[in-house]
Amino acid sequence: MIDLKKKYEKFKSEPGRIFGLVYPYILVVMVAAGLYYISNLNEIARQTVNPALPDTTKQEDLKIVEPRTIPPVNILEISKPTDELIAKGKETFTTVCTSCHGEDGKGDGPASTALNPKPRNFINKEGWKNGPKLSQIYQTLEEGIPGSGMISYNYLTPLERIALAHYIRQTFVPDPPTDTENELLALDQTYSLSNGKEISAQIPVQSAINIIIKESDSQIQNLISKVSEINGSDETGAKIFKLVTSNELKALVTLNSGAAWKQDYQKFADIIIYNMPENGFNENIFKLSGNEWDALYKYMNSYF
Ligand code: HEC
Repeated sequence: MIDLKKKYEKFKSEPGRIFGLVYPYILVVMVAAGLYYISNLNEIARQTVNPALPDTTKQEDLKIVEPRTIPPVNILEISKPTDELIAKGKETFTTVCTSCHGEDGKGDGPASTALNPKPRNFINKEGWKNGPKLSQIYQTLEEGIPGSGMISYNYLTPLERIALAHYIRQTFVPDPPTDTENELLALDQTYSLSNGKEISAQIPVQSAINIIIKESDSQIQNLISKVSEINGSDETGAKIFKLVTSNELKALVTLNSGAAWKQDYQKFADIIIYNMPENGFNENIFKLSGNEWDALYKYMNSYF
C-alpha cells in the first residue's frame, strides 16, 4: 500500500515518467497499424476490378468469307406459300432457330433464358421491331436486330429465308399481314433478289499480311542462297557481278523485282544504272567493257 502511494507521489512530481511507461504500448499499436496498412497496400495499389474502358485501338479484322454465288429468285413467284416452301422453311427453322424461338415459336427455346431482350414470341402481335410481313422478316434475317441475340442470317440463301418467313407466318403468326406488290418489288430492289449475287472471298487482313510476308520471306531466302553461290563461283560473270555491286543481296532484289530485262539488254543496263547506288550496284559498272557487260548479262540471265 505504502509502496503504491509512494509511486503515485513520484508520478505526480514527474509527469513525464507516465509517458515512459506507456510508450512501449503506443509503439506496438503504431507498428501494428503500420503493418496492417502495408498488408493492405496490395489492394490499394493494384486494381482488383478491371477498368471497363473500351479498347479504342483494337479493331475487328475482316471475317473469313467463302466465295459463293447466290442464285437469283423471282420474288413475285415465291411470295405465295407452297407446301414445298413451308417444308423447306420448317426444316431450317428446326435446325437453326428453335434454340431461341422454341418449337412453338413462342420465344421460349432453351437458349432464350440467357437473352435480353427475349426472342420474339411469333404468336404475340405486339412489339415487333421490323414486323411479320414477308419483306420485314426477310429484312430481319438479312440485317439482324441490332443490340439483341438476333444476328444476321445472311448466309442463308434468299430462297431459304423466304421459305423461313412463310413457315413462321403460316405456322405461328395470327392473321399475318401481306406485302403489297410494290413492297415486294422494293424488297427485290433493295436486296437485288432477281439478279443474284456474287460474294467474293475475303480473308482477315492479318492473314493476308502473313501470307505476303511468308512469300517474300522465301524469295529473300532464295536470293540469299544465290548470293553465296555467286560468291563461291569462279565464272567471269560472277567475278564481274562482285566487282560492280556494293550490296550483292540488294542488287539481286533489284533484278528480281521485274523480269522485263531478261529479254531486253537495254532494260538490263537501265535498271542497273538508274537509281544507283541505292539498287545495290556501284560506279564500277561504268568501267565495264562491252564484252564484260555481255558476260554479266548472260550470267544474271542464268540466275533468274
Ligand atoms: C440466339 C438466339 C436466336 C436465334 C438462334 C434466332 N433468333 Fe430470332 N430473335 C432473337 C431475339 C432475341 C429476337 C428479339 C430481338 C428484339 O426484339 O430486339 C429475335 C427476333 C426475331 C424476329 C422478329 C423481328 C422483329 O421484327 O421484331 C424474327 C422474325 C426472327 N427473330 C426470326 C428468326 C429466325 C427465322 C431464326 C432462324 C434462322 C432466328 N430468328 C434465330 C433471337 C434469336
